[in-house]
Amino acid sequence: MSRLITRTLILVACACWVFPLGAGRYALAGDGSTPPGIKEYKPNISTQEYEKRYKAVYGKFTEQMAQEGNPADFMLDDGKDLFGKVEGAAGKSCASCHGANGEKLKGVAATYPKYDPELKGIDTVALQINRCRKEQMGAPELKYESDPQLALELYVKSLSNGVPINVSIAGPAKPFYEAGKAFYYKRYGQFNFSCALCHVKYAGHMIRANLLSNNRHHADHWPSYRLKWGATGSLQRRFRGCNKNVRQKPEPFQSETYRNLELYLTYQANGVPIEVPGFRM
Ligand code: HEC
Ligand code: HEC
Repeated sequence: MSRLITRTLILVACACWVFPLGAGRYALAGDGSTPPGIKEYKPNISTQEYEKRYKAVYGKFTEQMAQEGNPADFMLDDGKDLFGKVEGAAGKSCASCHGANGEKLKGVAATYPKYDPELKGIDTVALQINRCRKEQMGAPELKYESDPQLALELYVKSLSNGVPINVSIAGPAKPFYEAGKAFYYKRYGQFNFSCALCHVKYAGHMIRANLLSNNRHHADHWPSYRLKWGATGSLQRRFRGCNKNVRQKPEPFQSETYRNLELYLTYQANGVPIEVPGFRM
């Protein structure tokens, strides 16, 4: 095992050195959008092959754990309660405007993140919930990653469970998508890694004790319960974790950079059904 780890680390380190960006072995991923200065990676293995390796390494561990009960299910129940709770100066709850069981928000989360003309930027589900609290309810915004914030986000997302992700990068969304993509491909940190290097090019290879995941399913299951956190957290918390792993300074939650990145990553999951709460190691 430790030989494999050493070999993998050496492989990654050498590969970064021998094949710097622009080595001519990369193809376009086919989103019709390539920001200047970016050469896209072609994954070393297909998504299907990655999924085979995932089964081989982890078996059905997370599936079984989730079946035994996802601790985030309790949070989902809290989210439903909060949705119906009157708060703020306007004397309203989310349910007052969006239906007692959130009927009017069914399927909506599958279209997020999306461009918002008022923001002149990208709106996420988490950000929109706080905008509604502030502007529609006269209630204080919820602190990102706090239990009530995650609970409401989880509930709103769950109203789209089973609905295929369908985010748009057309028109005014495009420059923000391209900014997200540029961030994804940018080399950074002391180790000179990029998100894409690990999650596109080397997806399916081992790095220390971890199998590097292909990004096709990165955006479909958040908020998720993670064993490592012993808690439920958001996709952006995961961004911060990966930033820290490669010694890059993490961004604040819902920063413009992270919203653009979320748009980029969610677009990679277009067609994949939303499934929350997720469960990960
Ligand atoms: C007084 C009515 C009102 C209340 C209360 C309210 N909202 Fe909204 N909400 C709106 C309106 C109006 C929009 C339309 C989008 C806009 O104008 O930004 C909206 C948009 C949304 C959207 C995006 C819908 C879409 O189609 O893109 C979500 C998600 C949402 N609200 C969630 C919530 C949640 C969760 C709460 C409770 C914390 C809440 N809202 C409270 C009026 C309300
Ligand atoms: C040095 C390699 C490396 C880099 C660079 C890296 N990650 Fe990761 N990432 C990992 C590992 C290891 C995991 C945990 C195993 C897995 O799911 O791949 C992970 C997990 C994730 C997950 C969770 C996947 C899931 O299924 O829940 C997301 C999302 C993610 N990374 C996004 C990013 C983003 C965005 C960046 C760039 C800011 C990035 N990563 C940079 C190694 C890396």
